[in-house]
Amino acid sequence: MSVFVILGLLVCIEAQGPSAVTTVFVQKGDDLILNVDDVPEDFSFVEWKFNKTVGVVRFAPGGRRSVLPDFTGRIEFPVKKFSVKLKNLQEADSGVYTAQVSTLQEGVQPLAEYKVTVQGPVSPVELTVDSVDSVDSVVSRGSDSCNLTVTCSTQHSHISSTFRCVSRTCSQEGGEQPELTTSGASLHVYLLNSSIICNHSNQVTWTEDFKRIEPFCPQYAGSEGSSAGTSVYLVKMVVFSVGLIIMVSAVITVHLMEKFKKHK
Ligand SMILES: *[C@@H]1O[C@H](CO)[C@@H](O)[C@H](O)[C@H]1NC(C)=O
Ligand SMILES: *[C@@H]1O[C@H](CO)[C@@H](O)[C@H](O)[C@H]1NC(C)=O
Repeated sequence: MSVFVILGLLVCIEAQGPSAVTTVFVQKGDDLILNVDDVPEDFSFVEWKFNKTVGVVRFAPGGRRSVLPDFTGRIEFPVKKFSVKLKNLQEADSGVYTAQVSTLQEGVQPLAEYKVTVQGPVSPVELTVDSVDSVDSVVSRGSDSCNLTVTCSTQHSHISSTFRCVSRTCSQEGGEQPELTTSGASLHVYLLNSSIICNHSNQVTWTEDFKRIEPFCPQYAGSEGSSAGTSVYLVKMVVFSVGLIIMVSAVITVHLMEKFKKHK
């Protein structure tokens, strides 16, 4: 653990060197162009290296260049002088690419540094509703609420969260924080526009699944004033009221009839 912390610190310190570090995330299979600027005229060589030790290519004055064995067939040269195009990057190509120039006066100087992370596309996600716990206001007199527990799953990881809707306002209770998966991607469940969204993303790609809240919590009608939830609520209200009126009338009728019988 502490070794990693120390390594991490070393990387940070190195990042503050004379040349600015460019951090790039590349999708697996894509190409990447590494550029250098301001190369002195009187250089004796310009060189690109991978992870500080592995040679990529070396340029000599007069336009000669030699590609080192590890990169033969894997790089091209764009028009811009001393720039390099890395082709069809794979996860194993993640690391630090540095360019250096060597001159007689100043020795070896850094020119550019790229911290490259190659990522594959994230896997699909599926959002499932595990349980719905709905209390209807018509039955419970004004305290309508609906609790939804959902799980967002990828092939290898999952995250659960609970949403509580009270009086047509929904909020997330637990599971708000995105979770990092083993592959370094992020899994996040959140509420947006009366839908529950599950998002799986890394720096280069993302996948998503969502469920609308209304079908599960009919008394929740959403901010757009959508009619589906409201009409179900209204129908229930009307049916319940009519039922109540009929029952009350029946009781009164029976009562009155008994009174009339007695008076006869
Ligand atoms: C290059 O360095 C990175 C860390 O900066 C490391 O993750 C990667 O494994 C290294 N690759 C090779 C081939 O040494
Ligand atoms: C959310 O709803 C508003 C208004 O209905 C709409 O303008 C907006 O585009 C929606 N956002 C998303 C991300 O769907």
